[in-house]
Amino acid sequence: MELPFFPKKNNTVAFDIGSNSIKLIQMRQVKKGWELLKMGFAELPPEAIVDGSIIDSMTVTNTLKELIKEQGIKLKDTVLSLTGHSVIIKKVSFPAMTEDELAESIQWEAEQYIPFPITDVNIDFQILGADAEGKGQMDVMLVAVKKDVINDYTNVIKEAGLNPVVVDVDSFALENMMDINYPVTPGENVAVVNIGASITSISVIVGSFTTFTRSIPMGGNQFTEEIQRQLSVSFKDAEDMKTGRKDPGQEGVQLSAAMESVATNLAFEVKRSLDFFVGGAQGADISRIYLCGGASKAARLVELMQEKTALPVEIADPFKNLAAGKSFDAEKLKQSGPFFCVAVGLATRRFADR
Ligand SMILES: Nc1ncnc2c1ncn2[C@@H]1O[C@H](COP(=O)(O)OP(=O)(O)OP(=O)(O)O)[C@@H](O)[C@H]1O
Ligand SMILES: [Mg+2]
Repeated sequence: MELPFFPKKNNTVAFDIGSNSIKLIQMRQVKKGWELLKMGFAELPPEAIVDGSIIDSMTVTNTLKELIKEQGIKLKDTVLSLTGHSVIIKKVSFPAMTEDELAESIQWEAEQYIPFPITDVNIDFQILGADAEGKGQMDVMLVAVKKDVINDYTNVIKEAGLNPVVVDVDSFALENMMDINYPVTPGENVAVVNIGASITSISVIVGSFTTFTRSIPMGGNQFTEEIQRQLSVSFKDAEDMKTGRKDPGQEGVQLSAAMESVATNLAFEVKRSLDFFVGGAQGADISRIYLCGGASKAARLVELMQEKTALPVEIADPFKNLAAGKSFDAEKLKQSGPFFCVAVGLATRRFADR
């Protein structure tokens, strides 16, 4: 039997299954932190995952299998994460009690905060501490994830021959990624904005806790669709022009204009969410925005975000403090960093965590 003093820390492989691509990361803990062992990336066709729902599970499973083969993954225990409207994260106030007491009563306490039947969701929580007003209450981060969506994602993992051991949510994975690479000083608030293909999630990390999250149904796809509309080209061509794989030729000016209009909208939406956070909590000024996700690479997005929010903005590098062997090209790591923010955070999770 396993002794509780020496919890077995099984190594895991992490998959971030996004609507545009699957990202794989395997890391190991070394004396001075973390070492990157494996990194894999595979695009999905646009119809495989739509609005966070797996439509074509066969394609997702096959893509997972190819990645496992390509990267020579031997581990079975897998960490994955969910995001979007299947995930509800709310900061709520409960009467002060111990963690065990809350674990007992969470189903009942949580019911009023969840817009789905309580039997349809898995609930988890993190106690943040006593409330600021000192009314015998405590602040709790409540997390609810729809069971059917968990099932859809764990099923493709199982079909690919893996064993799902932890289902996390994107924002907490990003919190772990930040912990390793950009530790937040106590009392400081930083925003992490993950701009994927179909969804942008915003979280505010205070100290090392996420205390606010919000998601906007906007991302890289909006850029592509706007280019498609304004330049009358196919989705594929628009995507290639956006990412610089295809030369727009004489349409360069129009391309920039299309991208700039979407980037401006997105920057405003982010600003609105952050204003909402700042307005709702005393002394909660945000000091910096870190961008993650593939669409954070869109031309001029960093500048526009900086301009609209009047905050310093930088693209996060999830590999910044990781040791990486010679087989990893430093330039490639830098270029692909934004795609891997969630996966790196997930890869720090160990089986014994839960
Ligand atoms: N160089 C680039 N410039 C602009 N956008 C880019 C670039 N490279 C990739 N993208 C866009 O980034 C998006 C993919 O990012 P990411 O991998 O973070 O999304 P995802 O996790 O698959 O999606 P989601 O989380 O929304 O389900 C796509 O919309 C893609 O077109
Ligand atoms: Mg994503």
